Amino acid sequence: MYNILKSAHSGWRYIVLILLVVAVVNALSGWLGKKSYTEGNRKLNVFTLISAHIQFLIGLILYFFSPLTKLPMSEPAGRYFKAEHAVIMLIAVVLITIGNARSKKVADAVAKHRNIAVFFGLAVILIVVAIFLMVKEVPGRSFFGIS
Ligand code: HEM
Repeated sequence: MYNILKSAHSGWRYIVLILLVVAVVNALSGWLGKKSYTEGNRKLNVFTLISAHIQFLIGLILYFFSPLTKLPMSEPAGRYFKAEHAVIMLIAVVLITIGNARSKKVADAVAKHRNIAVFFGLAVILIVVAIFLMVKEVPGRSFFGIS
């Protein structure tokens, strides 16, 4: 069970990151190019939101199953997975949720694109920083590996 969840969480990061990057590029182009907000844009943003929520849920279950979250805070891997990873990723997922909700609330197409570009963009930065922190603090972890 633990191994399946760990591999799923490890591999699913690529889906989340790819969708996020595509959504941000699209939103930037829509915002700066003052384009209309298409059904395709809306679907891409919703799929990105869903992929992040799935990753969050797998991470939440892993939090209780992983031996790494049972390590003491004095160990870098313990501190990273118990606190840093969970908190930074939680903030990233909240930003994605807010960005999508705000894009639905506003009527103007350019404002919709701007909300996605800003909130999803901040989330990408946080996720990349968190993964780099993991590579730095946890031995044996790599940015592009799947464990
Ligand atoms: C978008 C959100 C998230 C992303 C992109 C993400 C990404 C990752 C990555 C890349 C790893 C390392 C996997 C490997 O080295 O193969 C990992 C491990 C882990 N994540 Fe997340 N994560 C996210 C959210 C969360 C959340 C919210 C929690 C907990 C509340 C969480 C808990 C964990 C745990 C406990 C591990 C260690 C699993 C183990 O090796 O035992 N993650 N995550």
